[in-house]
Amino acid sequence: MNYEKMTETELRHELELLSAQFEQYRSQNLKLNMARGVPCPEQLDLSMGITHSVETREDCFTENGTDCRTYAANLFAGVPELRRLFAEVFDVPEDYIIIGGNSSLNMIYDTVARMMLFGLPGGDGPWFGKHIKFLCPAPGYDRHFKILDTFGIELVTVEMTPDGPDMDAVEELVKDPDVRGLICVPKFSNPTGVVFSSEVVHRLAKMETAAPDFRIIWDNAYAIHYVYEDVPLDDIFAVCREYGHEDRVLYFSSTSKVTFPGAGVAFMAMDPLNRDWMMPALQTQTIGPDKMNQLRHVRFFKTPDAMREHMSRHAAIMRARFDAVKETFQTGLAPYGIGDWGDPKGGYFFSLNLPDGCAQKTYELCRELGVNLTPSGATYPHGNDPRDRNLRIAPTFPAVEELKAAMEVLCICARLVYVKKLLSE
Ligand SMILES: Cc1ncc(COP(=O)(O)O)c(C=O)c1O
Repeated sequence: MNYEKMTETELRHELELLSAQFEQYRSQNLKLNMARGVPCPEQLDLSMGITHSVETREDCFTENGTDCRTYAANLFAGVPELRRLFAEVFDVPEDYIIIGGNSSLNMIYDTVARMMLFGLPGGDGPWFGKHIKFLCPAPGYDRHFKILDTFGIELVTVEMTPDGPDMDAVEELVKDPDVRGLICVPKFSNPTGVVFSSEVVHRLAKMETAAPDFRIIWDNAYAIHYVYEDVPLDDIFAVCREYGHEDRVLYFSSTSKVTFPGAGVAFMAMDPLNRDWMMPALQTQTIGPDKMNQLRHVRFFKTPDAMREHMSRHAAIMRARFDAVKETFQTGLAPYGIGDWGDPKGGYFFSLNLPDGCAQKTYELCRELGVNLTPSGATYPHGNDPRDRNLRIAPTFPAVEELKAAMEVLCICARLVYVKKLLSE
């Protein structure tokens, strides 16, 4: 059945069968949107308690007696009990945490903007007007690439391996003083699901960089989002501290995919040097974040264990969808020698590698059949996947039956494109 082993006659026969199946799907007028990784309604329902977790006047006060209904300079970095909860659940030092508004991506954007405008401690002033490069492990998150690109930062692609970024390449590239940083999703990465190995974390922490103001944007968006089993990630601050590089890390995360995307709570974490750099700009930008939403979150979760329990309920819902993707690929792609989709244990995505030159055409054929995927190329800087092979699969939103249908369509389209490629048509 492996297409590479088929004769031309066999391939032509296969092409006929697949074309007929393609037309059958066309007649079904499907309309399935799988472009972005968002929770399904069942997952959102898990957090409904948040809408009435702060009801009375008394509920509006923090444990240190501060009224969250008004500005409070002493809570600029966040409601203390929520900082403590995040510190425990995300395993970061409590005093490193600065809680913000609803969006970690917004915090990343603002942080990069500050680097451009003001520069960083130990650096040579504002980055604006200089040739700045950032390392971008890919397949990666398109919105990260877009932020950096918006500020005129050159995106340098580094291949993602099953253990994290290709560290031989990273260690070589950071010898260039124009390389000022690396942006990554270290756990259940978007889209590969990769968790950086201990060796990768140590090498990132240890490496000497030519740029004295080199920073890692450590977007731990999926820190607690296991689907099958948790996979430990080394404590980046602790490891960096071992090598005297703790100021290298700017950590970000949020509850967007814990409670409500767009109405969660985001935070960043950093060592005192970076905090002293960040605070004046932050305090100029805002009188303070939305503390009422912080209170709603901490009153809803109450304890670290309850928050973990909440994530296990998410995992149970996600598992059926992840299983459906794996099963469909296993029967719809694997026997034909097509595709590699890794083995994500958590996160929100699958990263599907098709044979070279097949991703864009597969994406387009899926669209023709009403299945809307994340555009091909999106997982690479500038939307340019050099081998045109990667597709991001976002299985969380559709109902399981719809998801199966969409994945079957994808398998038919990928096979059709590959058979045509082998026949050079
Ligand atoms: C890696 C990563 N970071 C950040 C975000 C956005 O998070 P937020 O809603 O906190 O801005 C997403 C959302 O998909 C994501 O996948």
